[in-house]
Amino acid sequence: MSNLFQPITVGGLALGNRIAISPMCQYSAEEGLAQSWHLIHIGGMMMSGAGLVIMEATAPEAAGRITHGCLGLYNDAHEEKLREIVTETRKLSSSRIGIQLSHAGRRASCRSVRDRWRGESLPPEEGAWQTWAPSALAYDDSWHCPAEMNADALARVRRAFKDSAERADRAGFDLLEIHGAHGYLLHQFLSPVTNRRRDLYGGDVVKCMRFPLEVAQAIREVWPADKALGFRMNSSDYHPDGLTLDDAVTLARELEAIGIDYVVMSAGNLAPGCKIPPATPGHQVEYAARIKSETGLTAMAVGLIVEPEQAEEIITSGKADMVAIARAALDNPRWPMHAAAALGVDMEYPPQYIRARPNNWTGFPIVHPNAREIKATRQMDRPSSGSWDRPEVVTITDS
Ligand SMILES: Cc1cc2nc3c(=O)[nH]c(=O)nc-3n(C[C@H](O)[C@H](O)[C@H](O)COP(=O)(O)O)c2cc1C
Repeated sequence: MSNLFQPITVGGLALGNRIAISPMCQYSAEEGLAQSWHLIHIGGMMMSGAGLVIMEATAPEAAGRITHGCLGLYNDAHEEKLREIVTETRKLSSSRIGIQLSHAGRRASCRSVRDRWRGESLPPEEGAWQTWAPSALAYDDSWHCPAEMNADALARVRRAFKDSAERADRAGFDLLEIHGAHGYLLHQFLSPVTNRRRDLYGGDVVKCMRFPLEVAQAIREVWPADKALGFRMNSSDYHPDGLTLDDAVTLARELEAIGIDYVVMSAGNLAPGCKIPPATPGHQVEYAARIKSETGLTAMAVGLIVEPEQAEEIITSGKADMVAIARAALDNPRWPMHAAAALGVDMEYPPQYIRARPNNWTGFPIVHPNAREIKATRQMDRPSSGSWDRPEVVTITDS
C-alpha cells in the first residue's frame, strides 16, 4: 500500500497519484510557439505514469519571455499549438496536464542554454528587448535595466495573465500554475529586495503582495473551478532584506482566501545578494510542511526528490500532499513507473510497453534490484480513468 500512489483531488481536479512532473523550460520555442520538441518531450512525460505533468514557464506577453526560446501564450497560434499537444498526448495517457504562466520581468531578454547561456542579458544585435519590473533596478551591472511599471504597464500585464489563462483553458489544460518564484516578475514584486516602490504596490510586505494577488485574482475569475489553480513561491529569499518563511505563510493565506488550490514551495535566485544554501535531498520539504500545517491549501514539495522511498515518506509523514519531480524525470522519464515498481504498486502500462512491465519481464529485477515484488500479475483492460489507445492488454509470459 503506497501513499504516493493514492489518488488526490486538487481544487476540482482528480489525479491518479501524487507525482507531478515539475515545469521545466526547454528553450526550444520559436517566437513563443511550441515545436515538435515540446510534443515529444511532453508526450514522453505524459507516458511516465505521473498523475500530473506541468508544462514549462510560459509567458503571457512577448516581453515576459526569459529568452527567445521560451514559450508564449499570447496569440491564437500559440493557443492552437498547445491545444494540439494537449489533445494528442491526452489520447494516449490518463495523466493530467497543466501549464505554468510566468513573466520574467527584469530577468527577461536573456541568452538561453541553447545559445551559450551563462546567465547573460541579450546584446542588442541578438534582439534584446525592453524589460519591465516593479522598480528600475537591474539584476546586476551586466543586466538590462528594466523600466519601472507604471499604471498602464500594471494593467497590461494583469490583463495579459488573465487572457493567457483563458487561452490555457480553451487549449484544454487541466491545471494552471502561476509562477511567483525564482526571481521572476511576480517574485520581484513580492520581495522588498527588488520592489522599492512607494505607491500602492510597494513599501511593506502587504503592499508588495498586492500586484501578485491581483494577478492571481484575475486568473481565478476566469479559471474554471473544476480544474486546479496553483502558485509557486519562494520559501525564503535568503537575503537580509528579503522575504522569510513567515512572509511566505502570509502570502499563502492570502492566496487561499482568493481561491488558489495549491502552492509549491521552491527557492531560486532573486538577486546577487541571496545566499541560497546548497541543496540537499528534500531540502524544501519542510517549507511545504509549514504551509500544509498552517493553511488549508494542497502543498506540493519540490527540490531534490529523487528516490521513490523518499517521495513515499514525504507523503506518508504528511509533510506534503504531492511531490514534484524535475531533473530525476529528465534523467529517467519513466521515474513514476519505476517508483511504482519500487514501492510494490501494480501500475498500468501502455500496451506498447507491456513487455517491459515488472511482472512480464524477467530482466526487470536485474535492472531494478530493489523493486518490491508486485502482487498483481496481470494488467487489466482499459484503465477506468484513462484512454490507452488499445485496450486489449493481457500479461505476456517472457520467453
Ligand atoms: C531544465 C530545467 C528547467 C526548469 N524550468 C522551470 C520552469 O519553467 N518553471 C519553474 O518553476 N521551475 C523550473 N525549473 C525548476 C524545477 O521545476 C524544480 O523546481 C527544480 O529543478 C528542483 O527540482 P529537482 O531537484 O527535482 O530538479 C527548471 C529546472 C530545470 C532542471
